[in-house]
Amino acid sequence: MIQEKAGTVKLGDTVLDDNTKAMLEKLKIVTVIGSGTMGNGICHVFAQSGFNVHMMDINQAAMDKALGVIGKNMDRQIAKNALTEADKQAALGRITTYTDMAEAVKDADIVIEAATENIDLKVKIFQQLDQLAPEHCILATNTSSISITRIASHTKRPGKVIGMHFMNPVPVMKLVEIINGYATDVEVANTIHVLATYLGKVPCIVNDYPGFISNRILMPLINEAILSLQEGVAGVEEIDTIMKLGMAHPMGPLQLADFIGLDTCYSIMNVLHMGFGNQKYAPATLLANMVQAGFLGAKSGEGFYKYTPGSKELVVSERFKNKGWKI
Ligand SMILES: NC(=O)c1ccc[n+]([C@@H]2O[C@H](COP(=O)([O-])OP(=O)(O)OC[C@H]3O[C@@H](n4cnc5c(N)ncnc54)[C@H](O)[C@@H]3O)[C@@H](O)[C@H]2O)c1
Repeated sequence: MIQEKAGTVKLGDTVLDDNTKAMLEKLKIVTVIGSGTMGNGICHVFAQSGFNVHMMDINQAAMDKALGVIGKNMDRQIAKNALTEADKQAALGRITTYTDMAEAVKDADIVIEAATENIDLKVKIFQQLDQLAPEHCILATNTSSISITRIASHTKRPGKVIGMHFMNPVPVMKLVEIINGYATDVEVANTIHVLATYLGKVPCIVNDYPGFISNRILMPLINEAILSLQEGVAGVEEIDTIMKLGMAHPMGPLQLADFIGLDTCYSIMNVLHMGFGNQKYAPATLLANMVQAGFLGAKSGEGFYKYTPGSKELVVSERFKNKGWKI
């Protein structure tokens, strides 16, 4: 299986030692739960790396859309000579879709859960996975902030539950933040480390604290940008330009919030707020209002910016025009 690996995610000429090879050989079937923004990217990199991927979602339309997105993203790789048409067809041929979780996980060696960021939903999914997946199967979650230890405590295999936090967009971003729950087995963490490296990513192992490292640092930054906007310190363009040109961030925090999804940002801030019990993590009222009103960023068509299908132009939402710093 691992010889079939194709395209840019391949580890160049790296020769796999016997240990690594043995670990990877045990992971023949990967089930990805959820086929949204992250789920489709995770399916993409695994399929491109030669794994048989079972994509599972409660919504067949979401999976049809996900397959289309994967195809388009692979076309971009082909245009850059990073993949061939034959590689693309082979990778797509390795993905099978399921709406029935029992079918999707019955032969799985590893499950990566990438469903909506909601603690009750994730607990329910992990209880089901624990019952339906083979005993040896590793249960990983792509959660941005929910406690791995808490999710694991609802299963009978807490040693096999771990965080495997990919970044968006998955085929492009190099980092995988691996989160050890309090009870996660060392061998499981080692396997995920080897697996992430094999996928062409750079893994970093951290411990299970609210927001882990990535979102404990990123989300308060985004929230502070939203508070600055809310207080009228500066406008959307000014805030994003200052962070892009002044701090060399590739994207301003408000554009990034739109890209991640404002509902996801809100939910992570709530996890930090509750987890640390510190007022400094309270989500901005503007963020809460935008989420409640359905302005979720790129995925809903409007957040701090307005999104028109097919256009890459960055247009500030009418709601935030002329509301910045007045000279
Ligand atoms: N969006 C990001 O930038 C980002 C980055 C890193 C991690 N994450 C995390 O990844 C996870 C997924 O986020 P997303 O942005 O892809 O969400 P999304 O809203 O784009 O997709 C979620 C998908 O989960 C499906 N789903 C809901 N309940 C389900 C169930 N019971 N079984 C199977 N599928 C179900 C939905 O139908 C939907 O297709 C979240 O935990 C999020 O915190 C997101």
